[in-house]
Amino acid sequence: MKENFKIALLPGDGIGPEVVREAVKILKIIEAKLNLTLEMDQVPVGGAGYEATGHPLPDESLTAAKNANAVLLGAVGGPKWEKLEFSLRPERALLGLRSSLKLYANLRPAKIFPALVEASTLKREVVEGLDILVVRELTGGIYFGEPRGIETLADGTRKGVNTLVYTEMEIERIARIAFQVAGQRSKKVMSVDKANVLEATELWREVVTRTQKEFPDIELQHMYVDNCAMQLVRDPKQFDVIVTTNMFGDILSDEASMLTGSIGMLPSASVGGENGMYEPIHGSAPDIAGQGKANPLATILSVGMMFKYSLNEEEPGQWIEDAVESVLNQGYRTPDIMSKGMKEVGTSEMGDLVAGELETNGF
Ligand code: IPM
Ligand code: MG
Repeated sequence: MKENFKIALLPGDGIGPEVVREAVKILKIIEAKLNLTLEMDQVPVGGAGYEATGHPLPDESLTAAKNANAVLLGAVGGPKWEKLEFSLRPERALLGLRSSLKLYANLRPAKIFPALVEASTLKREVVEGLDILVVRELTGGIYFGEPRGIETLADGTRKGVNTLVYTEMEIERIARIAFQVAGQRSKKVMSVDKANVLEATELWREVVTRTQKEFPDIELQHMYVDNCAMQLVRDPKQFDVIVTTNMFGDILSDEASMLTGSIGMLPSASVGGENGMYEPIHGSAPDIAGQGKANPLATILSVGMMFKYSLNEEEPGQWIEDAVESVLNQGYRTPDIMSKGMKEVGTSEMGDLVAGELETNGF
């Protein structure tokens, strides 16, 4: 019998719709190849959700995401919605989805394709062969902690407040994910915190250390976040799996992305709930939206992660990576990874090239 999966497509704003469109081409090829039925349901979120319904995460969109086996998200946000009241901003949709779907673990691999070694701003010997995985806690920490907000004080001046909170349960479960994924890699985990200053992360360090006892074959080390930011550009290959808090993971994964040449290359998987959400780590890039310049590869690679983590199919991830690698080896580049002597292509051309490669040499 044909397996049937529901996929919610949430293209969002800016370059989101352009990159999701390319990822759908890839989804359709794999659907045919594996003889699956992928029911794709497209709904608005972010600024697009706000325009359609007055709310960045419309009920209908949240329901579609909840009912799907997997969610493919483009990006949210843009200058048009920056002045809206906080609760109506596009970013709230993303945070709302993460917490409603209970996606507490965000996996952000930063792996360099050999053809892109020259696209990195770092020296060849520093980044060549790089393959790290940032495991970012996604539904806790300062992103969600209470109290939060902006209050007016008695003297009329204002005070902004956010709170960094982690419970033992939240730390334990993200640590377990990190140890589990490390078991399939080089069995090394670096836990990143600021335990010398922040009590919440002193607890983080203690609980991660304790949880490691359940995984005796995994080696655990700890590093302060400032040092980690420095080490990532000094000698990134010392890392394999990095597990860290929501905000540190946000920052360090952007930094890690540049080691691979462009933020336009990095996929992500958010897991831990009943289904999973897959998205490029880049934003909506309003400055290039609608111009066909966006790099769709991060979203295309996210489709590979979707098959692995939500649709129980290991192989497509490798097929997609191989197809992307081959297209890059042939010299095709979107503007963000363009370098001398290469062939510049636009968003949909890049999608077609990867799709063509999959179909001809793919499986
Ligand atoms: C990311 C983004 C989001 C985050 C924003 C858009 C809310 O930067 O996914 O890394 O901070 O988590
Ligand atoms: Mg970010």
